Amino acid sequence: MATIKSILQENRIFKPNDNFVAQANLLNKKDYSSLCKEAEGNYENFWGRLAREYIQWRKPFTRVLDESNHPFFKWFDDGVLNVSYNCLDRNLECNSDKTAIIFESDEGNITNITYRELYLRVCQFANGLRSLNIKKGDRIIIYMPMSIEAVVAMQACARIGAIHSVVFGGFSAKSLHERIVDTAAVAVITADEQMRGGKGILLKSVVDKALTMSNTDFVNSVIIYQRTGTHIEWNSVRDTWWHQLITDKPDYCEPEWVSAEHPLFILYTSGSTGKPKGIQHSSAGYLLGAMVSMKWVFDYKSTDIFWCTADVGWITGHSYVAYAPLAMGATQIIFEGIPTFPDAGRFWKIIQDHRVTTFYTAPTAIRSLIKLGSELPGQYDLSSLRLLGSVGEPINPEAWVWYYEVVGQSRCPIVDTWWQTETGCHMIAPIPGVVSLKPGSCTFPLPGIMAAIVDETGHEVENGEGGLLVIKRPFPSLARTIWGNPDRFKNTYFPEDIGNKYYLAGDSAQCDSDGYFWIMGRVDDVLNISGHRLGTMEIESALVANSLVAEAAVVGKPHEIKGEIIVAFVVLKGPSPKGENAKQIAIELRNWVSKEIGPIAKPEEIRFGDNLPKTRSGKIMRRLLRTIGRGDEITQDISTLENPAILEQLKKSAI
Ligand code: PRX
Repeated sequence: MATIKSILQENRIFKPNDNFVAQANLLNKKDYSSLCKEAEGNYENFWGRLAREYIQWRKPFTRVLDESNHPFFKWFDDGVLNVSYNCLDRNLECNSDKTAIIFESDEGNITNITYRELYLRVCQFANGLRSLNIKKGDRIIIYMPMSIEAVVAMQACARIGAIHSVVFGGFSAKSLHERIVDTAAVAVITADEQMRGGKGILLKSVVDKALTMSNTDFVNSVIIYQRTGTHIEWNSVRDTWWHQLITDKPDYCEPEWVSAEHPLFILYTSGSTGKPKGIQHSSAGYLLGAMVSMKWVFDYKSTDIFWCTADVGWITGHSYVAYAPLAMGATQIIFEGIPTFPDAGRFWKIIQDHRVTTFYTAPTAIRSLIKLGSELPGQYDLSSLRLLGSVGEPINPEAWVWYYEVVGQSRCPIVDTWWQTETGCHMIAPIPGVVSLKPGSCTFPLPGIMAAIVDETGHEVENGEGGLLVIKRPFPSLARTIWGNPDRFKNTYFPEDIGNKYYLAGDSAQCDSDGYFWIMGRVDDVLNISGHRLGTMEIESALVANSLVAEAAVVGKPHEIKGEIIVAFVVLKGPSPKGENAKQIAIELRNWVSKEIGPIAKPEEIRFGDNLPKTRSGKIMRRLLRTIGRGDEITQDISTLENPAILEQLKKSAI
């Protein structure tokens, strides 16, 4: 295999500061290495011990790991538990009056809810679901705004053993329909409307539309949370208002005790090609991973005000909004709106107003906030922050340093967390009291996660060489299968040609000489320029390191001689340049990249735009950029695109 060249040079190191270390959950290298040693020494004992420590079992397990049906692993499988019991009932004793959720609506209204209140609301709603004859194992689609109710809906499903599948509120009727059909859901929980940036976005009417499409007869109930009171069409056979469903329902609901392996949820993740995959997670293994990582990586303390900005429609919003914070008894922020409404100071104001200690967001949000007002955080009191986190894509070193200096005021470690929908929780991430940080590196695998970098035959590569990121041993929070398609699960994640029974993440990565992991992007984002394989991320980082550039995405365009040439789509900090000015800046940027990483990485074409095409979770849709770069017509599905208008602008952007 042609080695993936790594050309990114990042030598800055940030040691954890003394004040942080003094209060950290894992205090020193000794604690940390003894955990790693314990995991290496007796893998099953290690996970078994943690599962006993973190989870409250109805019936304890006697077996830790069953690998007999590779790769369909089972963890703790004769144990019995309920995930909602672990998130709610266990908090009634000590945290009953503690605030579980501080909800801030789009327009700025604030609702606080204690653990006791949340528990009562989940019980009532779970009884409501049972009154509709919804039972253990039934699939329920949740299509809701960020709200306390969305969490109540997820927890209520867990309480009665129903399997939820949350569909992000920005998905189209077609995508929603596809998920309803694939899960054969018996109910859909939705809202009349959601509010984002001062605008109402209809949800119930999208559900109606999805249910008029073929093959949805198995949906018996649609439950509607009234968010704004806007008019909705009413189907008297299947529609029920949330508030009417819970009227007179008892506020105790006996949990459905399920096996550790009972599916907790299905969450769809779109590959770059093909039909979305319904990633199916277990109950106990998933919960354990989410809790342990919250303790280690977020250094969770009971006094924290935790804020993960992800929508519950994504895995991050499952693990670090709906499950881990509650299971750990945390107080967390849930925010309905967007970072730029009413102005670009909204995130910073929320941190100031609620004294947020732990802030977890995505590089795309960080970069757009830099563009919108690099000086804004300085106008707010961010002194409550003690830890920052990043997730979703590689964070460019320049954005990292801005986040560290301007938001964290050089006081807060940044945990750059590498993981996936499939892994359920953090896999490679710093333990912040112990690990020195390098901007752009997610540092080291967590104790018990046997990550490595291999070539296409499954052999480990030397430090400094790029390759495929794998995890060599099964781990509790790993997805169990693709819903209804076990063969696809096996072929995608445990392909025969890797040969070693490793979990194949689909990302390329390298380790540097200190053993730090650097994620170079999805395998399908790798460019092949004159026989050199280059990660798109490194070229993007170089572009963003130029003081004019806010954001950049790089794609390959087929070329007869070179294999591929590089096309860079660039968003400047100021307005998009035109004419001669654009030409001048393009030359400057090409020379810049050439100087930063060498002529091989010099973009052949540079195109400027006001923005980049992104999914609603903020991922750049490189496949659309590839099509535009080649000058082809866009025929792909763009229903998940946040800002479709940008495509027209970029098509005309060639200079
Ligand atoms: O390519 C990696 C990138 O996001 C992919 C997983 O996407 P998804 O399943 O949507 O989950 C996102 C939230 C966990 C990975 O295969 N990715 C995620 N986190 C990072 C990252 N790339 C680099 N650094 C990260 N911290």
